[in-house]
Formats: sequence, C-alpha cells, structure tokens
Amino acid sequence: MTEEEYLCFVQPYEDALKNIRVRVDVLNQDYRRKYQNYPIHHIQHRIKQKESIENKLLKNGYEVSTDSARNYLTDIAGIRVICFFVRDIYAIVDLLKKQTDIVIIKECDYIAAPKPNGYRSYHIVFGVPVYHTDGMEYYPVEIQLRTMSMDLWASMEHRICYKGKQDCKAEKAFRAYAVALKDMEKAMEEFL
Ligand code: GTP
Ligand code: MG
Repeated sequence: MTEEEYLCFVQPYEDALKNIRVRVDVLNQDYRRKYQNYPIHHIQHRIKQKESIENKLLKNGYEVSTDSARNYLTDIAGIRVICFFVRDIYAIVDLLKKQTDIVIIKECDYIAAPKPNGYRSYHIVFGVPVYHTDGMEYYPVEIQLRTMSMDLWASMEHRICYKGKQDCKAEKAFRAYAVALKDMEKAMEEFL
C-alpha cells in the first residue's frame, strides 16, 4: 500500500467518522438541554494508521491491499465516547440505534459480559452512508463507549499488559482493579 493509495483509501472513512461525530455531539447537546447534564465527558477519534492497517491484515492472514482492508477491517474509522455513567452509555447507544439511516454491522456489550481480563466497554460498528459524486456507499465506523473509570482501566491495561507480554504479572491485579472500579462506579451512580 503506497502512501498515496492509503490517503485516497481513508478519505471516505474520514467522511463517515465526521458524520458520526456530529450525530454524537448533537445527542450530547440535546440531552443536556432536556436533562440539564451532559452524558458525555469527552470524545476521542482516530483513523487507523497505514502501518496498523498493514499489520492487522498480515496478522490475520490477509493480503496487504486496500481491497482487503475494505473487505475485512471494520475499525479503520474509530471514535471513543467517554461517558459519566453506565446509564449514559446505554442511553447514547439507544438513541444512535433509533437513527434509521445508519445500520448496525457489529455489536459487543463488554459491560454486560466483561472480557476475562476485566475489560469493559460497549463496542458497536455502524455502517454510515457516505454520498459522493458517484453515488452512496456505507463505511464502517467503530464506536467504543465507556465510562471514565473503564477508560482509566483500559488505558493503563493497554500500556502495561495488552498485546504482547503473555505472562504479565499485573494481569491478576488488573482483574481486581476492574471489580473495584465497577463497584465504585455503581456506588457513585446510586447518589444520582
Ligand atoms: P482488535 O484487533 O484489537 O481491533 O480487536 P478485535 O477486532 O478482536 O475487537 P475487540 O472488540 O475485541 O477490540 C477492539 C478494540 O477494543 C481494541 O483495538 C482495543 O482498543 C479495545 N480492547 C479490546 N479488548 C481490550 C482489552 O482487553 N484491553 C484494552 N486495553 N483494550 C481492549
Ligand atoms: Mg482495533
């Protein structure tokens, strides 16, 4: 994949990502007008780097090309929505699911069913229509929704354990942190 091919390939993913960012932002503002509080603390977004696309295709045994990236990767455009409370996550997900012009491609609720290592977050991939001069096509955007404490856990775990060190001695500690953070979060939500 040349640099030129990459830049041309990711353009519609940028457009789809922009579209989802606006939808999430509109929901955040409108929610505040109705319920006096913002459900979202902050938002991060990224387009997958050329090297990361190539490495993921190689790792999964696919040919390294823009065609396989289009066919096999659904996380080229990614947005992370960091909320205050778990209930905010489900509220945002419900509101996005009501938007009839975007389609659900993949959905995984790691809050209801955390990963064995303790990872919690709500993952959903939407197909977003992008209209260009030659017509409309759907492009996937991966949304990861998590609370601030889930984000703290995931950021630290990613730095210390994720992808690589197999026998990470911190793994056991992180499983315990996940439970402690979940309990703390639940207790704070009860003050609402
Ligand atoms: P990737 O190849 O990493 O994209 O994973 P996947 O295609 O199997 O999808 P999955 O839903 O499991 O994870 C997608 C993304 O969620 C990852 O790229 C991370 O950003 C995040 N994630 C998933 N599991 C973990 C985890 O155990 N720890 C951390 N820190 N992040 C995770
Ligand atoms: Mg990924």
